Amino acid sequence: MAMTHFKLRELFMKYCLSHDHKEIPPIPLVPKDDPTTLFTGSGMQQLVPYLLGEPHPLGKKLYNIQPCFRSQDIEEIGDNRHTTFFEMMGNWSLGTYFKKEQITWFWEFLTDILKLPKEKLYVAVFAGIKNIGADEETYETWKKLGLKENHIFRYGPESWWSRAGVPENMPPGEPGGPDSEVFYEFTQVEHNPTYGEKCHPNCDCGRFLEIGNSVFMQFKKNTDGSFSELPEKNVDFGGGLERILAAVNNDPDIFKTDLYATIITSIEQSSSKKYTDLENKSQIRVIADHIKASVFIIKNGVYPSNKEQGYFLRRLLRRAAVKMHKLTGKLNAKELGLIADQGVLVTYDKVHFDREQDKKLITNVIVEEINRFSKSIDRGLKEIQKIQTIDGKQAFDIYQSYGFPLEITEELFREKGQTVDKKQFYAEFQKHKDLSRTASSGKFKGGLADNSAQTLNYHTATHLLHQALYDVLGSEIRQEGSNITGERLRFDFYSTQKPSPEQIAKAQDTINSKIQEALPVEFKILPKAEAEKLGAKSFFREKYPDMVKVYFIGNYSKEFCGGPHVKNTKEIGKITIFKNEKIGSNLYRIYAK
Ligand code: ALA
Repeated sequence: MAMTHFKLRELFMKYCLSHDHKEIPPIPLVPKDDPTTLFTGSGMQQLVPYLLGEPHPLGKKLYNIQPCFRSQDIEEIGDNRHTTFFEMMGNWSLGTYFKKEQITWFWEFLTDILKLPKEKLYVAVFAGIKNIGADEETYETWKKLGLKENHIFRYGPESWWSRAGVPENMPPGEPGGPDSEVFYEFTQVEHNPTYGEKCHPNCDCGRFLEIGNSVFMQFKKNTDGSFSELPEKNVDFGGGLERILAAVNNDPDIFKTDLYATIITSIEQSSSKKYTDLENKSQIRVIADHIKASVFIIKNGVYPSNKEQGYFLRRLLRRAAVKMHKLTGKLNAKELGLIADQGVLVTYDKVHFDREQDKKLITNVIVEEINRFSKSIDRGLKEIQKIQTIDGKQAFDIYQSYGFPLEITEELFREKGQTVDKKQFYAEFQKHKDLSRTASSGKFKGGLADNSAQTLNYHTATHLLHQALYDVLGSEIRQEGSNITGERLRFDFYSTQKPSPEQIAKAQDTINSKIQEALPVEFKILPKAEAEKLGAKSFFREKYPDMVKVYFIGNYSKEFCGGPHVKNTKEIGKITIFKNEKIGSNLYRIYAK
């Protein structure tokens, strides 16, 4: 019988506990305080300050299962293994165990606990790059565990991991290091020579599937481009829940695991099309992936829009709608709402959702957006049929007139053998200022803002702003999100009263007077209940562990936060609120620099 995701979650948790790890709650899929990315894309994201050397409230051995969304994979969806949303099983060593222990334990987990056949497992080891040598310790450890030489592959930059990818792309201050991936071989899948003459673990043909990656976080990029050793040598392990389940069940189609099966059944019912029919497979997979990701994103308080996370949500929903239209020749918004409820919410009920409670809002958001889109889909498709050759500007016009996100237009034109000029599309987008700077900047590719002094200044200023708004507008205000770059800070909050210009000016004066007072900024690690009793502010979407880190700015502000911050408010300089706007019902946004 196939293993269920519940069983795999339980086995991973037991394995981590048996090696003395503490569970850290996953962070929201839309991170509250991370300027570097729109979505949580890996388990280590909440651990960046700790990998760089700050002490973690729960100690040095940690684990969790983190919901992740990787927007850069949106165009790859449709095959049997790529998804935008996935869950990452992670464990971390913050300067305690290192290569030998991590590799040995993961091997034990795969082969003793999950009983994966050893002969189907392959590993990759870092072969070294310009100034950083090959990882011989990892190579030797795999050999001692009994892996044959023809199951150990050495790769260069492919076997290095950081949030920004290869070493050259890492911004200063970013941690990274050599990694060791483990691959499962589906021997029933024939190698596809369009991916290269010979198959190997990193080949993309689908015979090999990466199921886990142990990153040895031991370096930090310097401003001059060189690398220095981090104060502690850390382990950052991540393994895809969906992929490991597919390997345990020895079926290369992750859409057959119980993390997708109910969703697929509900799509089959809505469309009266069978997943087993080859011609429907790819469309059904896209619908399953996109509706699942949308449900998780909506749960994080995002609405479809033309900006940032909202724009991704819009693209996912509209793309799912186009696929449904292709599959059935019509579009019924209610049916997509049903897939969200009877497929996604049923699958994750009591794991990530409370179906009864979440159902109404989530299905309403989906149905409304698809209804909006359905008014123009037929006209848009007709218009596209008429156009013979397409450029980026026309693709943008199609988006403006009919609401077709870029990748949908691309797909329709791909059938005509044409590609759309993406650069030109985004240039048009920028001109219309609909999409914030994230569209063309690195964030679409998972790029990073820097860890500069200015970012620290704005982070501490955000805490001052939060408290100042509380003082000026009253205790009902609630942080909804924040985003900090080297150029400005942005803060979203809930308030039933619209802040007046005088109130905004008062908040700005308060921040600057607290900066003038040269208040010390310090943190304490405290039991959660004690921190709450002290009145420290927390983020309502986040679940916190029993021990938490609280940042104090003199006696003025106390907030649950991982850091880092300036040491003293006088480092911040003057803060000016240069824009404030209403972004939704009872929702406001402030920009300051
Ligand atoms: N942080 C590593 C990854 O995301 C484990 O692959």
